[in-house]
Amino acid sequence: MIEPLGWQHIKAVAALHRATLTGLLTELGTSATEAFYAGCVGTPLAIGLVDLRESRLRGFVLGSSRPDALRRDVLRNNPVGIVSALAVSALTRPTAMFSLMTHVRRSDHERIDLRTPDLTYLAVTQDARREGVGGSLVHAFSERIRATGVAAYELSVDDDNPAGIAFYERLGFRLTGRYREFGRPRRRYRLVVV
Ligand SMILES: CC(C)(COP(=O)(O)OP(=O)(O)OC[C@H]1O[C@@H](n2cnc3c(N)ncnc32)[C@H](O)[C@@H]1OP(=O)(O)O)[C@@H](O)C(=O)NCCC(=O)NCCS
Repeated sequence: MIEPLGWQHIKAVAALHRATLTGLLTELGTSATEAFYAGCVGTPLAIGLVDLRESRLRGFVLGSSRPDALRRDVLRNNPVGIVSALAVSALTRPTAMFSLMTHVRRSDHERIDLRTPDLTYLAVTQDARREGVGGSLVHAFSERIRATGVAAYELSVDDDNPAGIAFYERLGFRLTGRYREFGRPRRRYRLVVV
Protein backbone atom coordinates (compact mmCIF):
# COMPACT_ATOMS: atom_id res chain seq x y z
CA MET A 1 0.00 0.00 0.00
CA ILE A 2 1.40 3.37 -1.01
CA GLU A 3 0.82 6.38 1.25
CA PRO A 4 2.36 9.83 1.76
CA LEU A 5 5.56 10.07 3.82
CA GLY A 6 4.67 10.97 7.43
CA TRP A 7 6.42 11.48 10.76
CA GLN A 8 5.83 7.84 11.68
CA HIS A 9 7.95 6.65 8.72
CA ILE A 10 11.03 8.82 9.23
CA LYS A 11 13.23 6.39 11.19
CA ALA A 12 12.55 3.46 8.85
CA VAL A 13 12.99 5.61 5.72
CA ALA A 14 16.27 7.08 6.99
CA ALA A 15 17.55 3.59 7.89
CA LEU A 16 16.67 2.24 4.43
CA HIS A 17 18.22 5.30 2.79
CA ARG A 18 21.51 4.83 4.65
CA ALA A 19 21.55 1.08 4.01
CA THR A 20 21.02 1.36 0.24
CA LEU A 21 21.91 4.79 -1.17
CA THR A 22 25.26 6.50 -1.69
CA GLY A 23 25.71 10.25 -1.31
CA LEU A 24 25.76 13.12 1.11
CA LEU A 25 23.03 12.10 3.59
CA THR A 26 24.50 8.63 3.98
CA GLU A 27 27.91 10.21 4.58
CA LEU A 28 26.53 12.69 7.11
CA GLY A 29 24.97 9.98 9.30
CA THR A 30 21.68 8.91 10.84
CA SER A 31 20.78 12.18 12.61
CA ALA A 32 21.26 14.25 9.45
CA THR A 33 19.32 11.77 7.32
CA GLU A 34 16.41 11.72 9.79
CA ALA A 35 16.51 15.53 10.06
CA PHE A 36 16.31 15.83 6.27
CA TYR A 37 13.21 13.59 6.01
CA ALA A 38 11.62 15.31 9.02
CA GLY A 39 12.08 18.60 7.16
CA CYS A 40 10.34 17.11 4.11
CA VAL A 41 7.20 16.15 6.05
CA GLY A 42 4.67 18.92 5.83
CA THR A 43 6.17 20.83 2.92
CA PRO A 44 3.98 20.71 -0.19
CA LEU A 45 7.15 20.93 -2.29
CA ALA A 46 8.20 17.42 -1.26
CA ILE A 47 6.65 14.48 -3.05
CA GLY A 48 7.37 11.72 -0.56
CA LEU A 49 5.69 8.29 -0.74
CA VAL A 50 6.17 5.06 1.17
CA ASP A 51 5.13 1.49 0.35
CA LEU A 52 3.97 -0.46 3.41
CA ARG A 53 2.90 -4.04 3.95
CA GLU A 54 1.38 -4.79 7.35
CA SER A 55 2.88 -1.50 8.61
CA ARG A 56 6.39 -2.55 7.53
CA LEU A 57 8.26 -0.26 5.16
CA ARG A 58 9.06 -1.95 1.82
CA GLY A 59 10.25 1.13 -0.06
CA PHE A 60 10.08 4.88 -0.47
CA VAL A 61 10.52 7.61 -3.04
CA LEU A 62 11.21 11.31 -2.57
CA GLY A 63 11.52 14.16 -5.05
CA SER A 64 10.09 17.50 -6.05
CA SER A 65 9.01 19.64 -8.98
CA ARG A 66 11.16 22.38 -7.34
CA PRO A 67 14.21 20.67 -5.80
CA ASP A 68 16.05 23.97 -5.24
CA ALA A 69 13.11 25.43 -3.30
CA LEU A 70 12.60 22.13 -1.43
CA ARG A 71 16.13 22.35 0.00
CA ARG A 72 15.34 25.78 1.43
CA ASP A 73 12.00 24.57 2.83
CA VAL A 74 13.58 21.55 4.51
CA LEU A 75 15.92 23.88 6.41
CA ARG A 76 13.07 26.28 7.21
CA ASN A 77 10.84 23.41 8.46
CA ASN A 78 13.37 21.77 10.71
CA PRO A 79 16.14 24.30 11.52
CA VAL A 80 16.92 22.94 14.99
CA GLY A 81 17.00 19.32 13.82
CA ILE A 82 19.19 20.08 10.81
CA VAL A 83 21.66 22.34 12.62
CA SER A 84 22.07 19.98 15.57
CA ALA A 85 22.47 16.98 13.25
CA LEU A 86 25.16 18.86 11.31
CA ALA A 87 26.92 19.76 14.57
CA VAL A 88 27.05 16.04 15.42
CA SER A 89 28.35 15.26 11.91
CA ALA A 90 31.02 17.99 12.20
CA LEU A 91 32.37 16.30 15.34
CA THR A 92 32.09 12.70 14.23
CA ARG A 93 32.41 12.85 10.42
CA PRO A 94 34.74 15.66 9.33
CA THR A 95 35.13 14.17 5.82
CA ALA A 96 31.37 14.28 5.34
CA MET A 97 31.35 17.93 6.37
CA PHE A 98 33.95 18.62 3.66
CA SER A 99 31.59 16.93 1.17
CA LEU A 100 28.77 19.13 2.43
CA MET A 101 30.81 22.30 1.86
CA THR A 102 31.65 21.11 -1.67
CA HIS A 103 27.96 20.43 -2.20
CA VAL A 104 26.96 23.91 -0.98
CA ARG A 105 29.54 25.49 -3.33
CA ARG A 106 28.14 23.24 -6.09
CA SER A 107 31.61 22.78 -7.51
CA ASP A 108 30.79 19.37 -8.98
CA HIS A 109 27.08 19.95 -9.47
CA GLU A 110 27.33 22.74 -11.96
CA ARG A 111 26.07 20.62 -14.81
CA ILE A 112 22.82 19.77 -13.01
CA ASP A 113 20.16 22.41 -12.97
CA LEU A 114 18.68 22.22 -9.47
CA ARG A 115 15.48 23.83 -10.75
CA THR A 116 14.73 20.74 -12.88
CA PRO A 117 11.94 18.54 -11.44
CA ASP A 118 13.70 15.59 -9.85
CA LEU A 119 13.14 12.14 -8.38
CA THR A 120 15.93 12.37 -5.82
CA TYR A 121 15.76 9.20 -3.73
CA LEU A 122 14.24 5.77 -4.31
CA ALA A 123 14.92 2.56 -2.42
CA VAL A 124 13.28 -0.80 -1.84
CA THR A 125 14.22 -3.17 0.99
CA GLN A 126 16.34 -6.14 -0.08
CA ASP A 127 13.62 -8.71 0.71
CA ALA A 128 10.94 -6.86 -1.31
CA ARG A 129 12.88 -6.42 -4.56
CA ARG A 130 11.66 -7.74 -7.93
CA GLU A 131 8.05 -7.68 -6.69
CA GLY A 132 7.06 -4.47 -8.45
CA VAL A 133 7.44 -2.19 -5.40
CA GLY A 134 9.96 0.15 -7.06
CA GLY A 135 7.88 0.32 -10.25
CA SER A 136 4.71 1.15 -8.29
CA LEU A 137 6.49 3.89 -6.35
CA VAL A 138 7.83 5.45 -9.57
CA HIS A 139 4.36 5.34 -11.18
CA ALA A 140 2.77 6.95 -8.12
CA PHE A 141 5.52 9.58 -8.04
CA SER A 142 5.03 10.30 -11.77
CA GLU A 143 1.31 10.87 -11.23
CA ARG A 144 1.92 13.22 -8.31
CA ILE A 145 4.57 15.26 -10.10
CA ARG A 146 2.47 15.48 -13.27
CA ALA A 147 -0.36 16.87 -11.13
CA THR A 148 1.94 19.79 -10.20
CA GLY A 149 1.98 20.75 -13.89
CA VAL A 150 5.39 19.46 -14.98
CA ALA A 151 5.84 17.65 -18.29
CA ALA A 152 9.00 15.71 -17.45
CA TYR A 153 11.38 15.02 -14.59
CA GLU A 154 14.93 13.78 -14.17
CA LEU A 155 16.99 11.64 -11.82
CA SER A 156 20.58 10.57 -11.24
CA VAL A 157 21.94 7.08 -10.79
CA ASP A 158 25.49 5.87 -10.06
CA ASP A 159 27.33 4.47 -13.07
CA ASP A 160 28.17 1.37 -11.02
CA ASN A 161 24.52 0.57 -10.19
CA PRO A 162 23.50 -1.82 -12.98
CA ALA A 163 20.26 -2.80 -11.18
CA GLY A 164 19.18 0.84 -10.89
CA ILE A 165 20.11 1.52 -14.53
CA ALA A 166 18.23 -1.56 -15.80
CA PHE A 167 15.24 -0.64 -13.64
CA TYR A 168 14.97 2.96 -14.88
CA GLU A 169 15.57 2.02 -18.52
CA ARG A 170 12.85 -0.66 -18.26
CA LEU A 171 10.45 2.03 -16.99
CA GLY A 172 11.16 4.21 -20.04
CA PHE A 173 13.66 6.73 -18.66
CA ARG A 174 16.03 8.07 -21.33
CA LEU A 175 19.73 8.79 -20.72
CA THR A 176 20.45 12.51 -21.11
CA GLY A 177 24.04 12.79 -19.89
CA ARG A 178 26.82 11.85 -17.49
CA TYR A 179 28.55 13.85 -14.76
CA ARG A 180 30.49 13.40 -11.51
CA GLU A 181 29.20 13.97 -7.98
CA PHE A 182 31.78 13.87 -5.16
CA GLY A 183 34.04 12.16 -7.70
CA ARG A 184 31.51 9.39 -8.46
CA PRO A 185 30.53 8.95 -12.12
CA ARG A 186 26.76 9.27 -12.43
CA ARG A 187 24.14 9.15 -15.18
CA ARG A 188 21.27 11.53 -15.68
CA TYR A 189 17.90 10.18 -16.91
CA ARG A 190 14.69 11.87 -17.97
CA LEU A 191 11.06 10.69 -18.12
CA VAL A 192 8.27 12.50 -19.97
CA VAL A 193 5.03 12.25 -17.98
CA VAL A 194 2.47 14.10 -20.11
C1 LIG B 1 16.42 -0.21 -8.16
C2 LIG B 1 15.30 -0.66 -7.21
C3 LIG B 1 14.60 0.57 -6.62
C4 LIG B 1 14.28 -1.51 -7.99
O1 LIG B 1 13.18 -1.81 -7.14
P1 LIG B 1 12.30 -3.15 -7.34
O2 LIG B 1 11.12 -3.05 -6.45
O3 LIG B 1 13.17 -4.34 -7.17
O4 LIG B 1 11.89 -3.01 -8.86
P2 LIG B 1 10.65 -3.71 -9.64
O5 LIG B 1 10.34 -5.02 -8.99
O6 LIG B 1 9.54 -2.74 -9.73
O7 LIG B 1 11.34 -3.96 -11.07
C5 LIG B 1 10.76 -3.52 -12.29
C6 LIG B 1 11.65 -3.97 -13.42
O8 LIG B 1 12.93 -3.29 -13.35
C7 LIG B 1 13.97 -4.19 -13.80
N1 LIG B 1 14.87 -4.51 -12.68
C8 LIG B 1 14.66 -4.29 -11.37
N2 LIG B 1 15.72 -4.71 -10.64
C9 LIG B 1 16.60 -5.23 -11.53
C10 LIG B 1 17.88 -5.85 -11.39
N3 LIG B 1 18.46 -6.02 -10.17
N4 LIG B 1 18.52 -6.26 -12.51
C11 LIG B 1 17.95 -6.10 -13.74
N5 LIG B 1 16.72 -5.53 -13.93
C12 LIG B 1 16.07 -5.11 -12.83
C13 LIG B 1 13.27 -5.47 -14.24
O9 LIG B 1 12.98 -5.34 -15.62
C14 LIG B 1 12.01 -5.44 -13.40
O10 LIG B 1 10.97 -6.20 -13.96
P3 LIG B 1 10.92 -7.84 -13.73
O11 LIG B 1 11.20 -8.08 -12.27
O12 LIG B 1 9.54 -8.20 -14.16
O13 LIG B 1 12.01 -8.38 -14.59
C15 LIG B 1 15.87 -1.55 -6.05
O14 LIG B 1 16.68 -2.55 -6.62
C16 LIG B 1 16.68 -0.78 -5.02
O15 LIG B 1 16.15 -0.25 -4.05
N6 LIG B 1 18.01 -0.74 -5.22
C17 LIG B 1 18.90 -0.04 -4.26
C18 LIG B 1 18.72 1.47 -4.29
C19 LIG B 1 18.81 2.02 -5.71
O16 LIG B 1 19.61 1.58 -6.52
N7 LIG B 1 17.95 3.02 -5.98
C20 LIG B 1 17.85 3.61 -7.32
C21 LIG B 1 18.98 4.47 -7.67
S1 LIG B 1 18.92 6.01 -6.84
